[in-house]
Amino acid sequence: MLTPHLEAKIDDIAKIVLMPGDPLRAKYIADNFLTNVKVINNIRNMLGFTGYYKDVKITVIGSGMGIPSMGIYSYELYKFYNVDKIIRIGTCGAYIKDLELLDIILVNNSYSESSYALLQNNCNEKLISATEKLNDKIEEIAINNNIKIKKGNIHTSEVFTPYMTNINIDVPLNQYNCIGAEMEAFALFHNAKIFNKEAACILTVSDSMFKNNDISPEDREKSLNQMIELSLKTAINL
Ligand code: HPA
Repeated sequence: MLTPHLEAKIDDIAKIVLMPGDPLRAKYIADNFLTNVKVINNIRNMLGFTGYYKDVKITVIGSGMGIPSMGIYSYELYKFYNVDKIIRIGTCGAYIKDLELLDIILVNNSYSESSYALLQNNCNEKLISATEKLNDKIEEIAINNNIKIKKGNIHTSEVFTPYMTNINIDVPLNQYNCIGAEMEAFALFHNAKIFNKEAACILTVSDSMFKNNDISPEDREKSLNQMIELSLKTAINL
């Protein structure tokens, strides 16, 4: 075993990896979008699959929820499996009225109060950027495929927003222009930086404090499939 959390052989993981939070979503992507699929990880049920999308080898594996989980998996993929690029595909809550449920967000920067970067290598940054080149490609593919995206900063929170006793988002919202919250991008972007690799994050808006949060399963699946398609089409055009 190469790492404490992944059992794949080096060659079984592609240079580009898509990471949903939910391992069953990784299975959904493998089942519905990839061919010649091989299971590459089962440890802790963090299911991972490598297959082909239009002849390009792609790995999809869950990140789990939160900075520590994403921190571990992305660290191991970049360092021990020589992965070059990771695209997180997840969900977020909206901080601003202008975001509609199921909008697709391309993240420019992640702001976090997390100590992840500080503990990892004494990095004091609170705002970490996605890889510009990778984001430019995602934007180009979105335009070419008529997929509407919105760009902005995200708050990588350590508490699921609805579970905060007093929702105080003044700093991420007003100081760092965060348009929503998720829980993993900060760790991914930091790890990409320390290894000189590439990272991006695409999110669909799953909840908003300004809406009643009723989404039909069909609309949810359509938006999810659009985000998956955007990440896969980007992966084969790099
Ligand atoms: N907060 C944090 N993470 C999230 C949310 C939220 O509201 N929605 C989806 N992921």
